[in-house]
Amino acid sequence: MTASGYVTDVAYVPGFYPQMAPVTLRHVAALNGVCPPGTSTSYRYLELGCGLGRSFTTLAAANPRGEFIGVDINPNHTSAAARDIAAGSLANARVITGDFASLPADLGEFQFIALHGVFSWVGPEVREQILEVARRHLAPGGLLLVSYNAMPGWAHLQPIRGILRQYAALRQGDSTQRVRDALAYLVFLRDRQAKYFLDNPRASAYLDALVTQDLRYLVHEYLNEHWTSFYFAEVAEMFGRAGLTFVGSQPVHTNFWDLCVRPEFQELFRTTRDRLVTEAHKDFCANTAFRWDIYAKSPQPLGGLEGRLATADDLEFRVTRPGTALPFQSNLGVVTSTVDGPLYQGLLDALSTGSLPLSKIVADERFAATPPADLARAVDAGVALGLLDVSAGHVPALGDIADGPTAIPSGFNRMVVETDALGGRAVALASELTGTGCVIGDLDAAMLHEATTGGTAGLVDRLASRLAASGRALQRDGKRVDDSVEQRKLVDAACDAFLKTTLPRLVNVGVVTG
Ligand SMILES: C[S@@+](CC[C@H](N)C(=O)[O-])C[C@H]1O[C@@H](n2cnc3c(N)ncnc32)[C@H](O)[C@@H]1O
Repeated sequence: MTASGYVTDVAYVPGFYPQMAPVTLRHVAALNGVCPPGTSTSYRYLELGCGLGRSFTTLAAANPRGEFIGVDINPNHTSAAARDIAAGSLANARVITGDFASLPADLGEFQFIALHGVFSWVGPEVREQILEVARRHLAPGGLLLVSYNAMPGWAHLQPIRGILRQYAALRQGDSTQRVRDALAYLVFLRDRQAKYFLDNPRASAYLDALVTQDLRYLVHEYLNEHWTSFYFAEVAEMFGRAGLTFVGSQPVHTNFWDLCVRPEFQELFRTTRDRLVTEAHKDFCANTAFRWDIYAKSPQPLGGLEGRLATADDLEFRVTRPGTALPFQSNLGVVTSTVDGPLYQGLLDALSTGSLPLSKIVADERFAATPPADLARAVDAGVALGLLDVSAGHVPALGDIADGPTAIPSGFNRMVVETDALGGRAVALASELTGTGCVIGDLDAAMLHEATTGGTAGLVDRLASRLAASGRALQRDGKRVDDSVEQRKLVDAACDAFLKTTLPRLVNVGVVTG
């Protein structure tokens, strides 16, 4: 087993990535006209380079019909994932310590394979091993998700990584200490107006963002021996060699070129039929720096809306934030789009009583004048714009929560709330209704813990004393608040928002029973 130049002396940071959820991968496949793997009976999911495992374990808790396996070379990572699996009593998840070249011979086939934060950070030899895993272990019709640093967005920032790594190599101590020293060196160069920073104004803003990051993240992002930004075509060629075909990308709006590029470029896209060429145009027009791409082995065409209704109608659509009024504005980076008009108002009305599958939306009388394919496209665009959400099953309308005790039925979620509350980073809780994680703040997790163990009476006082004991700082507008009166106001406001918004949302998706 060899790490092939990948950092192993410092453990990574825990994180949940909703882009990896089967429900999301299936939706992107369906909206691109590809038949997604079914999930109504058993299926298998493999995460390569799972780190501390919070993505695949949360997904396992949210999808009890699937079997989820994580693989990582770093035993500190896999033992953390194994602890979560045991503490959360996840019978459908397991983790393997090892490199991608030495997976068990009898590992079998998977309907989903995902790798996030891996492909750009390993050398060519390990990338070939990943392609071999895809070739051998992705089932026909299966989907593979790969994320990577992309060109041309990374072009002018590549030297930041180069300087960080070269300087860190000259320093003493573990990787955390060395990356800290290297960051200080970069700040020194920038503050004295080194010509690189003068010639690349965005590099300075980028450095400002870097110094706020967790050092463990920076170690894994920048200190590996390998670090390659790819053009989309290069990655498509590699997975093509493994017998895979490009299906689509994430976030969902990246499947709609008009939501990615300014109107000046529309003619270019209208006259391009080849999806691979479209992707290259898009990356240049939008200066893409990171991609989440989905590939399929032997993809089966859906055969229009009829085929989609026959194979993917278990996906349901709901309003992301119940109560949203039109016009709704969505900022997608390069493009800001406004959603308005009777079709979307009709969708908001139709979905006000809870989520619906596409078949029921299409059958709704209020859309009789809209061609069904256009309606399906509008629903998908609604997801792309953040107005609508997709879920693995039915989610009822957001209701009032009854007074009385609340509880967290999932052992996995109880474990996460206990361990991650006030941990300083977002907390993902598994929802079987949505088939993915529901992300809340670490302060919300502490309130949830308090509310489900001791009720909501006196929540403000209990949160205040818990915060005082933990040393977790409170912030307003990114600035630390030390004044005790101001702190109390923040705690009051946090409890109010939790009870009015977060708790009902958690009850709505079944994370909490109320
Ligand atoms: C940046 S981390 C990403 C972790 C996780 N996917 C996430 O997004 O939180 C990359 C992971 O790949 C693992 N890794 C790197 N090379 C590997 C190899 N050859 N075989 C197995 N795992 C490897 C590392 O140990 C690390 O946990």
